[in-house]
Amino acid sequence: MEPLRCDGRRLMGRLDQLGAVGRLEDGSCCRLALTDEDRQGRDLVVSWMRELGLEVRVDRVGNLIGLRRGSEDLPPVMTGSHIDTVATGGPFDGCLGVLAGLEVVQVLNEHGVTTRRPLAVAVFTNEEGVRFQPDMAGSLVYAGGLPVAEALALVGIDGRRFGAELERIGYAGTLEPGAIVPHAFVELHIEQGPILDQEGEALGAVANLQGISWTEVTLHGRANHAGTTPMGLRRDAGHGAARLACFVHDLAQELGGVGTVGSLRLAPNLINVIAREAVATVDLRHADEQVLAAAERRLEAFLQDLRAQGLGVETRRLARTEPVVFDPGTVRVIEQAAASLGQRIRPMTSGAGQDAQMLARICPAAMIFVPSQGGVSHNPAERTDPRHVQLGADVLLRTLLTLAEERP
Ligand code: GLV
Ligand code: MN
Ligand code: MN
Repeated sequence: MEPLRCDGRRLMGRLDQLGAVGRLEDGSCCRLALTDEDRQGRDLVVSWMRELGLEVRVDRVGNLIGLRRGSEDLPPVMTGSHIDTVATGGPFDGCLGVLAGLEVVQVLNEHGVTTRRPLAVAVFTNEEGVRFQPDMAGSLVYAGGLPVAEALALVGIDGRRFGAELERIGYAGTLEPGAIVPHAFVELHIEQGPILDQEGEALGAVANLQGISWTEVTLHGRANHAGTTPMGLRRDAGHGAARLACFVHDLAQELGGVGTVGSLRLAPNLINVIAREAVATVDLRHADEQVLAAAERRLEAFLQDLRAQGLGVETRRLARTEPVVFDPGTVRVIEQAAASLGQRIRPMTSGAGQDAQMLARICPAAMIFVPSQGGVSHNPAERTDPRHVQLGADVLLRTLLTLAEERP
């Protein structure tokens, strides 16, 4: 019998439909977590889950789980990802993992396949961490790394509370997060970087993932006249912030990791006034925990220098995760699934944070990557070739089928 294949066109069709929710004039997908646009995206995904016969459960932090029965009442094999986006997102980040999970379910339904273990397709809340920090908050709670009450109390960049917004959009469920412990978790995601595309590879098997350190830095200077204040008499928060951005860039290059000052607000932000205050975010990442911790110490020493030069400095930790090594057994199942399709699959490190890294705390977990054209993501120009979408979904299908037959 011909092995089962996903319907890549149908999957691309759903990606288009979900991508249209919250689309801005410049083509960006803007579905920040727990906004009205996120609600509309959730409503669409839930309607598809119901059409496919999944039992939809919603937990107390808004994680959605669509369950498909197996022939035995065993812990399910879970797949999925997130549908929240950054404000300048593309249609594939996260959505591919969720909608490929639904495509797998549809193929199994159409062929009358009942797996031994149940299958679960999950949508985790606030993966991006743009509106509410930390990132991966829903899957972090799911894995027991953040208490529900703390997640509900998070305050967003717009001053709104996570818990209130969850209620407002109608997705405050009653299921205890983590009540359903998966047998295994496999997430299909776009690479969001240049490696597969540059090397002409179609598939990646993600073996590990970088640690992430997010800090908000507030610099306090003194506002004064830009024309009359001699250079030696300034306490210029804008200059401090510019030096911080250069420092982070150079540090990351020196240590072989990545570093970004992606957000910077100056006050009063006027052409002829020395900045009184600068609020900047620092995103440091490295696959080696010791190097990441050393980078954090170097950042602290740099901020100490700024203090010595007369600026006030405050820091607030927004997120911190250690590097993760995925389950080698699950990575092997993914590799075998690719091999059974006659496909090579390249070992990869994920540069992006992922829900799978949180699920790895409670069950064997791993990821499949497909290429991002030009290595572009978090950008409306984010694209993945439909042939790669098809291949990624087929590898996911086979991987889930293998895991779902595993005996207790
Ligand atoms: C999520 O996309 C992240 O890696 O910041
Ligand atoms: Mn993502
Ligand atoms: Mn993202």
